[in-house]
Amino acid sequence: MTLPKRVRIVEVGPRDGLQNEAGVVPAAVKIELINRLADAGLPAIEATAFVSPKWVPQMADNAEVMSGIKKKPGVAYPVLVPNLKGFESALAAGAEEIAVFGAASEAFSRKNINCSIAESLARFAPVAQAAKQHGLRVRGYISCVVGCPYQGAVEPAAVAEVAAELYRMGCYEVSLGDTIGVGTPGRIQAMIAAVAKAVPMEKLAVHFHDTWGQALANLYAAMEFGVATMDSSVAGLGGCPYAKGASGNVATEDVVYLLNGLGIETGVDLERVFEAGRFICAQLGREPASKVARAMAAKNAC
Ligand code: HMG
Ligand code: MG
Repeated sequence: MTLPKRVRIVEVGPRDGLQNEAGVVPAAVKIELINRLADAGLPAIEATAFVSPKWVPQMADNAEVMSGIKKKPGVAYPVLVPNLKGFESALAAGAEEIAVFGAASEAFSRKNINCSIAESLARFAPVAQAAKQHGLRVRGYISCVVGCPYQGAVEPAAVAEVAAELYRMGCYEVSLGDTIGVGTPGRIQAMIAAVAKAVPMEKLAVHFHDTWGQALANLYAAMEFGVATMDSSVAGLGGCPYAKGASGNVATEDVVYLLNGLGIETGVDLERVFEAGRFICAQLGREPASKVARAMAAKNAC
């Protein structure tokens, strides 16, 4: 199987990475992080979420973040939107791309967005329509594509069904989320094979959390099947507040190092992502989860 020549990395650190932080991360810090990531060459940076501040307090500064960032030409700054209320706020804040987020597990859907899968799709359809009317692009997420923290294993057919609906309502891309990082390459490939019957492979992205240390192997497995868009989080920050125990996304530094080694183009400067990771980790007072970042720091210290 041939690997893609070029991969598009969607940086989700400022949203997925920070949404679960217990302490307040000032908007100015988030803005600085986003600007540094854009300067590192990332083509898409998920900036924030227009969700209920009661559910996710860390994203309450969404409008302030959107108005503070220096939008770089050619870089997309998508934001999460769960309903029309979120859409109106995102539009007012100047968003040009939104992402709706559903799940392949009923239990997770209820915990995360307080409705069934069918209700969520019925909510997203008018959001997608409104976005289209205003010229905004819409991305679709599916959580729990192989496993759910409440329900256990998730069947590929359940993922394919939701993916088909998101694609039908106009999502330009569907990002497949292993929310709790339980997938292994064989299961990931079986899931992608099922989804690709409903949505063209080039419209699929993968979004792997690294809780069980399988994310890089799973990314490779997804690329073998032709997936060429992947989400990652600088320094491996993050987790989902409604998936207890889930760790951060696969680290952007680790993904760039892997792809550089394979000769796959990303347009991303590893050194500058590493510096952006050091910046946010210093602000949060912790070490990066990224093994590549740790190795680079150790090498620099020699
Ligand atoms: P609900 O309580 O059912 O909503 O929550 P509601 O419509 O009954 O409204 C309740 C209150 O929320 C009202 O305010 C609304 O105005 C307000 P009140 O009258 O009580 O003062 N409200 C909002 N406020 C701001 N922005 C909005 C909004 N909507 C309602 N958009 C809701 C339903 C969807 C709002 C809630 O469940 C929610 O915000 N959930 C978000 C959860 C979340 O952000 N999770 C993390 C992101 S998903 C993720 O991390 C997974 C992903 O990374 C992929 C993967 O890894 O798998 C994407
Ligand atoms: Mg996630």
